[in-house]
Amino acid sequence: MLNNVILIGFMGCGKTSVGRELSKLCRNILIDTDDIIATNYNMTISNFFARFGESEFRQVEISLCNWMKENLRNATIAVGGGLPVIYDLRDIGSVIYLESPFEELYQRILGHKSNKRPLFDDLTLAKELYDKRIPIYEEMADYTVSALGTTTQVAEKIYNYIKGY
Ligand code: S3P
Repeated sequence: MLNNVILIGFMGCGKTSVGRELSKLCRNILIDTDDIIATNYNMTISNFFARFGESEFRQVEISLCNWMKENLRNATIAVGGGLPVIYDLRDIGSVIYLESPFEELYQRILGHKSNKRPLFDDLTLAKELYDKRIPIYEEMADYTVSALGTTTQVAEKIYNYIKGY
């Protein structure tokens, strides 16, 4: 058993902040794929996209997933919103989908002064991406939870679910 718990969902749904709370409850380590890539390349994700392009970013994400699959056990993993499109995360652990209406994500992301998400620059394109992604998230999820509560509430719901297996 790998025992990893992987948080998926669209940009702004709170994977990283819920992941922090959840890893405290589980007393394990949070791995955040965007943070690892940003740290390794010593640049923001936006700068990575600008410099190397999206397809290079996806290649890096895939090699990180291959590494996690072989090496990670008992971790909480928050992945970038595009990862479920290119990798079957069920090979790494249990997949939890943080579900949220687009309007809420839009408010959260544009509420921040600096939008660090290159794929959320254009609202129409972001909505199209959202519509395409939802069925992929739904299909991959072992468990779906509403992302609309507080970070702690969402993390506790997930924790109660994983305790049950
Ligand atoms: C992306 C989501 C981002 C980041 C990159 C691409 C996507 O992560 O990986 O900007 O394709 O949805 P978050 O979902 O953590 O914002």
